Amino acid sequence: MKIKQNIAVIGVGKMGTTLIESLLKNQVINPSQIYGTTVQEVHANRIKEKYQINTGTDNMAAVSKSDIIVLAVKPQMIPQVLKQIAPALSKEKFVISIAAAIRTTFIEEQLNNKNISVIRAMPNIASLVNEGMTVLCPGKFVEREQLELTLGIFRCLGKVETIYREELMDVVTALSGSGPAYSYMMIESLTDGGVRMGLPRELARKLAAQSVLGGAKMVLETGLHPALLKDEVTTPAGVTIDGLMELEDGGFRVALIKAIDRATHKSKQISQ
Ligand SMILES: NC(=O)c1ccc[n+]([C@@H]2O[C@H](COP(=O)([O-])OP(=O)(O)OC[C@H]3O[C@@H](n4cnc5c(N)ncnc54)[C@H](OP(=O)(O)O)[C@@H]3O)[C@@H](O)[C@H]2O)c1
Repeated sequence: MKIKQNIAVIGVGKMGTTLIESLLKNQVINPSQIYGTTVQEVHANRIKEKYQINTGTDNMAAVSKSDIIVLAVKPQMIPQVLKQIAPALSKEKFVISIAAAIRTTFIEEQLNNKNISVIRAMPNIASLVNEGMTVLCPGKFVEREQLELTLGIFRCLGKVETIYREELMDVVTALSGSGPAYSYMMIESLTDGGVRMGLPRELARKLAAQSVLGGAKMVLETGLHPALLKDEVTTPAGVTIDGLMELEDGGFRVALIKAIDRATHKSKQISQ
């Protein structure tokens, strides 16, 4: 894919720069087609130097020169940014928002109900290492080509799925948005277990992380049910079944199910 349009990235923080870096690494766009903005001039200059893109602190100017507008500021900044850029938006441009808990209808309304296409995207931090999981949800004015283009953009960060029921974005946020944090906790705990039983910490961490990565890859690449894969590595009267029994006893499954339940409710609460 080659992107012909110009892209404005409003907020070149962690996620904004990850997106820019991935687009450039995948050579789907030229640096001169990207307009990034921040609050601080010094930050804008640093980003310009690093990626050779256009940067500045004027959101309106960046939007005027672009066709695709990516909103990558913190959710609480969104109303202010929309107010600034609304006059520069027209039907030929479209908006991609990665702000957690901000609904497409909210953005459409703040853009003065000019029928602007808005696509909500929920990426995750693993995009930094090209193993991101992004879920897209198109608003009601989005056209097929705009969605296709957005899929192409986020494929540069990892895997992408699309859903059409926006109420499900709360569980998406709780599952894949927050997901890396759950796996960090699992890796940390497995590492402590290894250390407790005598492994050097660095080695224990590597074994834990690679096992989580390997297990995830097996699920994705074989397409087999995780329960089947688990049964295949569980020898009768062997080592693994004892470990599994302890996990069951500690409420491992229920804890994870409840984590998604609770985090989904929190996301809903915030978006209201
Ligand atoms: N981090 C994640 O794992 C993750 C995952 C999914 C979605 N998201 C979403 O991604 C968005 C960005 O998160 P982040 O972690 O990248 O935040 P971040 O690192 O704090 O980046 C936000 C950037 O926005 C800039 N900014 C603030 N107000 C602005 C304004 N009025 N105009 C232009 N730029 C402005 C800041 O500029 P200065 O540096 O100059 O202050 C900063 O560079 C959030 O809405 C979040 O919900 C994040």
